[in-house]
Amino acid sequence: MTSRTEWWKQAVAYQVYVKSFFDSDGDGLGDLPGLISKLDYLRYLGVDLLWLTPVQLSPYRENGYDISDYQAIQPELGTLDDFGNLLKEAHARDIRIITDFVINHTSDLHPWFIESRSSRTNPRRDYYIWRDGKDGCEPNNWASHFSEAAWTFDEQTEQYYLHLFSKHQPDLNWNNPAVRDELQRMMKWWLDRGIDGFRLDAINLISKRQDFPDNSVNDRFFLSQQGSRMFSLDNFRNGPDLNDFLVELKTRVMDQYDCVTVGECAMLNVDDAVGFSAPATGSLDMTFLFEHTEHYNLVGKDPEKLKEIITRWQTDLHGRGWVGIAFNNHDQPRVVSCFGNDADYRKESAKLFAVLLLSLEGTPFIYQGEEIGMTSVTYDDIADYDDVATINEYAQKISDGIDPDIALDQVRAISRDRGRSPFQWNAEKAAGFTTGKPWIGINQNYAEVNLQRDLEDTDSVCHFYKKMIALRKLTPALVHGSFTRLDSPQELYVFERTFRDETVTVVLNPGDVAVSYTCDVQPKLSNYPTTDHGLVRPWEARILKSAR
Ligand code: GLC
Repeated sequence: MTSRTEWWKQAVAYQVYVKSFFDSDGDGLGDLPGLISKLDYLRYLGVDLLWLTPVQLSPYRENGYDISDYQAIQPELGTLDDFGNLLKEAHARDIRIITDFVINHTSDLHPWFIESRSSRTNPRRDYYIWRDGKDGCEPNNWASHFSEAAWTFDEQTEQYYLHLFSKHQPDLNWNNPAVRDELQRMMKWWLDRGIDGFRLDAINLISKRQDFPDNSVNDRFFLSQQGSRMFSLDNFRNGPDLNDFLVELKTRVMDQYDCVTVGECAMLNVDDAVGFSAPATGSLDMTFLFEHTEHYNLVGKDPEKLKEIITRWQTDLHGRGWVGIAFNNHDQPRVVSCFGNDADYRKESAKLFAVLLLSLEGTPFIYQGEEIGMTSVTYDDIADYDDVATINEYAQKISDGIDPDIALDQVRAISRDRGRSPFQWNAEKAAGFTTGKPWIGINQNYAEVNLQRDLEDTDSVCHFYKKMIALRKLTPALVHGSFTRLDSPQELYVFERTFRDETVTVVLNPGDVAVSYTCDVQPKLSNYPTTDHGLVRPWEARILKSAR
């Protein structure tokens, strides 16, 4: 048995949305050989843990989050040999690799589901969740995440199957021990090949209440209503057997390897995070902190709320658990657009988020392109969108009689495709991402926002990320320190991290207006070329470091 270490606490992680990273063969889709060819850049940036969005075989009806074979690689992305190569090349550069592991559900084309739906007596019938209808309708009133019913009727066997996401993503029945055995066996297979861990997709949804009660508008986690159907998370989030399932996974699989598990858990609060990641008793190494992104995605930009959420988590979780922190990912808009100011202060606000991300307790996850200040994309036509959530939502609006232009504007504002456009490598055709036709449109600002340009400019967002990553690596207080918010004018966010004899102070102005503030200390790092000791300018970020 390998003893587990906490290497992931020191790590600076980088999320690779593989399809949109770099295309090596001109088919318009990013791939594993493309990623391998860019490892030197990632090493140069200073990151040492990569999270890859799903690479396993999938019909791609939900962006790869619908897996049809856990032990094969999607051919457009590469082969198992390419994956082996990626591990070898990454490890040679001291970079670890984790991938998404989507085990709340499979694709409806997974052989297990094909067998399961073939007859009520098939041995794999209970790998999924089948129920009879009620009074000629669905078994209950649940809506799925993607604006459709959470139950789909199967004509052949005359029962409904459950899918919390799209109908092409049937939920696995974790209450069946045979399902858990199969999944555990497969995870070991990946770990034996050298993978360093998993990002466990939608993992706090795997245990469902077995009485399947109706959702209600009064639920704590009620999110929306679609006709008589309700979308809320109460009846499957953190379900009754969740802890047992995860502890079993940890003791039977994870504890045998020096690996990391990062849980994606919707609507997580500090107590939940402690439950999952407490040092001795937790079943996962960390869960992602989502409260801030959930907030700005639903409510919009609110600097006071952002400060409150971060302060509460940093203070309440310290010493009790661990989170992964991100401001962007493949489900979110680009933070520089939705929270920063991508028109007048793109570089400054991108750099401010670099300072914030890399000076908090928790493993920071940079999302590809964030380090060059990439902005959210919008497309002119609904046909240009790929995200199933966007497409279903648009169809729903049209069937509700909303004018197509208005419906397009509304879904544009929330589409997950905003952050999924290809990485902008240079100012050449298709931003240097592919020699072919990109699978989804490139952001039109690529002549101005691209890596090559950033590498040539020492004042660029990318150089700033590199410096900030290096500073974090050299500063234990930024990794392990306690957190104290300091008094400051309301517009600013000033906090301190302290570890042993080292204190780091961070001064941020997350807004467009300069604020008077007296501070004589010369910053270690700042996103303005000079320091005004009486003023913090728009989107200014300073890091001050002192030994006691
Ligand atoms: C997670 C993924 C998201 C996906 C969903 C269903 O939330 O981040 O992209 O749609 O799980 O698998």
